Amino acid sequence: MPELIASTSSGDYPILIKNGALNLVGHLAAEAVVGRKAFVVSDETVYPLYYSQVAKSLESAGFSVAGYAFAAGEGSKTATTLFTLYEQFHQAGLSRSDLIIALGGGVVGDVTGFAAATYLRGVPLIQIPTTLLAQVDSSIGGKTAIDLPFGKNLAGAFYQPKAVVLDPLVLRTLSRARMSEGMAEVIKYGLIRDERLFDQIESQTYDLEWVLERCVRIKTTVVAADERDSGERMLLNFGHTVGHAIEKVTGYTTLTHGEAVAIGMMVASQIGEKLGKTPAGTTDRLRQVLSHYQLPTECTWSADELMPAIHSDKKRLAGKLYYILLNKIGEAVLNPMDANDLKRVLSEVLSRA
Ligand SMILES: NC(=O)c1ccc[n+]([C@@H]2O[C@H](COP(=O)([O-])OP(=O)(O)OC[C@H]3O[C@@H](n4cnc5c(N)ncnc54)[C@H](O)[C@@H]3O)[C@@H](O)[C@H]2O)c1
Ligand SMILES: [Zn+2]
Repeated sequence: MPELIASTSSGDYPILIKNGALNLVGHLAAEAVVGRKAFVVSDETVYPLYYSQVAKSLESAGFSVAGYAFAAGEGSKTATTLFTLYEQFHQAGLSRSDLIIALGGGVVGDVTGFAAATYLRGVPLIQIPTTLLAQVDSSIGGKTAIDLPFGKNLAGAFYQPKAVVLDPLVLRTLSRARMSEGMAEVIKYGLIRDERLFDQIESQTYDLEWVLERCVRIKTTVVAADERDSGERMLLNFGHTVGHAIEKVTGYTTLTHGEAVAIGMMVASQIGEKLGKTPAGTTDRLRQVLSHYQLPTECTWSADELMPAIHSDKKRLAGKLYYILLNKIGEAVLNPMDANDLKRVLSEVLSRA
């Protein structure tokens, strides 16, 4: 079974990737903590689907288990939910030697992770991501957060879990749109670091366990090289500069994150081709692959509309603005670019229609 070890400055932890891995949570939990109380946090969609399977595994490993589910969706990633969780942990008598489990998508993972990082100054955490996006992205790397009334992810902490459990079987109940959204990030990993992954997605010959393992391997490697969000980790933002700008100008409502990133990756590929850094034909290949997953490929916003949002994006290093381009499929590079150059090439690429 693919079991990766993630190395971080605060220790190593296992990432289990396996069909049926939900049944092994109890075993991992018993190894991770000395306490025998587990508190499972989920949302109202995921709880009825998978809570009992997880609770059963924990109980058979000797844990007493309590659970709580909040309303599904980004609207729950708030301080209100955080305080409700503190209250629930208190009522369950949770101590620092016990265990908190996040069972759900990125919203559950982020808010539960932040609650675990801060309750009693830190209670051990196991992440069980149940969306493709959470499995390949948000559950790996140790970032936790809640949204504040004036912006997304504005309060949070770096907090590494004791283990991450990826069960591809839970993706069977995920909607097609959510699956496509996660595929945008999977395709991104192929583009920035793994030509073979991209090829297999392109030819539709992949096995999901294998895909998850490749993605997680890339994210853990990049994050280990750079735990604090600069340099190397910036490569993970391929397609996200324009993607975030599109999310911003559309008010985070019209498109999913994955859809915005899909368009952002197309624009980055077009810019790379225009500058002669990305081989001609890359954008066409990418368009085909994205279309297969019903992801959008056309940017209908102008450079004038996007530039202010790009400008306020925080992807800067030592005062410089970087734009991530592809040397080729499977190899991304940080390309220093001043705002005027970026605007000029963006205008050229976006006005070609
Ligand atoms: N911490 C990080 O590094 C990081 C990275 C990327 C994104 N994020 C965060 O992740 C969040 C988005 O995560 P998401 O896309 O997983 O959203 P989500 O958690 O809202 O899940 C999407 C929907 O799918 C449902 N769902 C989850 N698993 C399911 C399953 N197996 N079967 C059926 N339905 C299921 C959920 O109930 C929800 O309605 C955002 O808040 C974003 O900021 C964090
Ligand atoms: Zn993303």
